[in-house]
Amino acid sequence: MKIAILKETHAGETRVAATPGTVKKLVEGGHQVAVESGAGLAASFQDEAYKEAGASIGTAAAVLKGADAVFTVRAPETATIAKFPKGAVLAGLLEPHGNKALAAACAKAGVDALAMEFTPRITRAQSIDALSSQSNLAGYRAVIEAAHLYGRAFPMMMTAAGTIAPAKVFVMGAGVAGLQAIATARRLGAVVSATDVRPAAKEQVASLGAKFIAVEDEEFKAAETAGGYAKEMSKAYQAKQAELIAAHIAKQDVVVTTALIPGRPAPKLVTKAMAASMHSGAVIIDLAAAQGGNCELTKPDEIVDAGGVKIAGFTNLPARLAADASSLYARNLLALSPLLADDKGGKAPHWEDEIITAMALTRDGAVVHDSLK
Ligand code: NAI
Repeated sequence: MKIAILKETHAGETRVAATPGTVKKLVEGGHQVAVESGAGLAASFQDEAYKEAGASIGTAAAVLKGADAVFTVRAPETATIAKFPKGAVLAGLLEPHGNKALAAACAKAGVDALAMEFTPRITRAQSIDALSSQSNLAGYRAVIEAAHLYGRAFPMMMTAAGTIAPAKVFVMGAGVAGLQAIATARRLGAVVSATDVRPAAKEQVASLGAKFIAVEDEEFKAAETAGGYAKEMSKAYQAKQAELIAAHIAKQDVVVTTALIPGRPAPKLVTKAMAASMHSGAVIIDLAAAQGGNCELTKPDEIVDAGGVKIAGFTNLPARLAADASSLYARNLLALSPLLADDKGGKAPHWEDEIITAMALTRDGAVVHDSLK
């Protein structure tokens, strides 16, 4: 199978879908890999390193010529998709929720699109799960950004000149990103608390040494879907949650919000009034900024100053760790590649495999994903 790696075109995207390490493994697996010149530069991977690993380097047109599969980080532009060879497989973080335009463009071009976001949460697919690999890094980076924006130290420090109190960090949403944010804030010495609507999160939060805060009613007990994601909570629950959290947020130095519901706008958890209740110098890092934000004041890719409280709406934190994020993402695609080929490395997507079925947006010129038909 000839696999093409394109240079990303989204503003601010620094990641790349293959590293010299994964190219080497793909070539050993019997594939040909063609990398667009400069594709890895923003993640510190030089063309030369890809070449040494066995890839050919060329223009976008050259790498796409005869490609059986195209691996990307984000969805390519529609005009680029139109230039893919008919029948090519596209795998990437395609932001598929409700993205009928993308599905239509892929179907029109005869491109079989696989959305990495739709990787099912089953044990066998864990190595392919790019949402997890990227969220983990985003959670880490969120705390590093918070530490940078916060004009005080995180750990308690006892010095001859006096004692510095540890920072109080509150993490909202204890999924993959939130749990890593808790662990990172703890490593830095902060006093950490966290909330979530899924009961499974309670034990995980406690095992990381953070205090769990949540409205634990009947709705909470049923809030997790079979896929491991949260459901949208009722208005009544949201009101109870807001009341509990308002008092807590007022005492925090840093709030990291990560709450998401797949395919829905992010729940608004931090109101203007809650942000205003925090002290001057406090920091809110909103990881849900790309999905509308968990804080009412969040502006995508801006740091808003609201009466001395800084609210940062990073929409692509993994891109601020380009080398590591690319390495893990490229490994997710490497793990996917056997499901796209036969034993000899020829193109043969395993359409009957539940992983591919779940990820497929289009096939043979038609939109096949139920959510996009
Ligand atoms: P996510 O990115 O969709 O959401 C982040 C967090 O926000 C979730 O924990 C969710 O419960 C929480 N949330 C949603 N609405 C909220 C609200 N109103 N208030 C507070 N919190 C709210 O979720 P993520 O991080 O992708 O994963 C969630 C869980 O899925 C993980 O903790 C894990 O248990 C499971 N998982 C399973 C995998 C597997 O079996 N292969 C792989 C990865 C995750």
